[in-house]
Amino acid sequence: MRRKLAAGNWKMNGTGASLAEVEALIAAHPNPGCEVLLCPPATLVGAMAAKAAGRIGVGGQDCHSATSGAHTGDISARMLKDAGATHVILGHSERRADHAETDAMVRAKAEAARTEGLVAVICLGETEAQRDAGTTLEVVGRQLFGSTPEGATGTNTVIAYEPIWAIGTGRTPTLAQIAEVHDFLRSELVGRFGAEGGLIRLLYGGSVKPSNAAEIFATSNVDGALVGGASLKAADFGAIISAL
Ligand code: G3H
Repeated sequence: MRRKLAAGNWKMNGTGASLAEVEALIAAHPNPGCEVLLCPPATLVGAMAAKAAGRIGVGGQDCHSATSGAHTGDISARMLKDAGATHVILGHSERRADHAETDAMVRAKAEAARTEGLVAVICLGETEAQRDAGTTLEVVGRQLFGSTPEGATGTNTVIAYEPIWAIGTGRTPTLAQIAEVHDFLRSELVGRFGAEGGLIRLLYGGSVKPSNAAEIFATSNVDGALVGGASLKAADFGAIISAL
């Protein structure tokens, strides 16, 4: 009842030449057994959406909460939608750290995304110090509550659990640790949104690669992955798609 989702986040990587990877990915996986989404830098959203032609989703990596105005360097959800985006990543830990994004800001952005018909992929996750202190569930529960707007549904919202210490490090939590957090998030979502909370997909992110994807995808309440480094190359991301 929850379709699996393989989402790639290119972060600040990629130029026009990188779109060859999208062509290769689509050619190699014309009928993937899961939903596929790639989120390139904003400069490539329009060109990637044109290449994808609806065969995979294309997302932004952030949006402003306003529709337009005097916000130099920012991009609105309406602009992403206009460029062909279907999704937008919000509240990634790198944005929370580099741009001091708070849960309230992420929530406002998610509301803007919904207004424009974009699916919000809301990210949350604990630092290594928070895990060591035993506060992981408290931290992610607070982020989930604060960052997810009222009216979140399985069609307008995806949640990505990304332990910060696992991002780009090659380290991953144990499967039991992933299951503990995902089961907790599922129960929080159902508690807040009822049956609809059971339809919101929960992605795991943090050093997902072809060699560990299958076991992570088989973990309780894991509905897919948000993949960083391994989404840049069609061969690696394709192998992850095949594992879903
Ligand atoms: O958004 C993606 C995550 O930050 C994971 O990145 O797969 O390079 O660890 P990574």
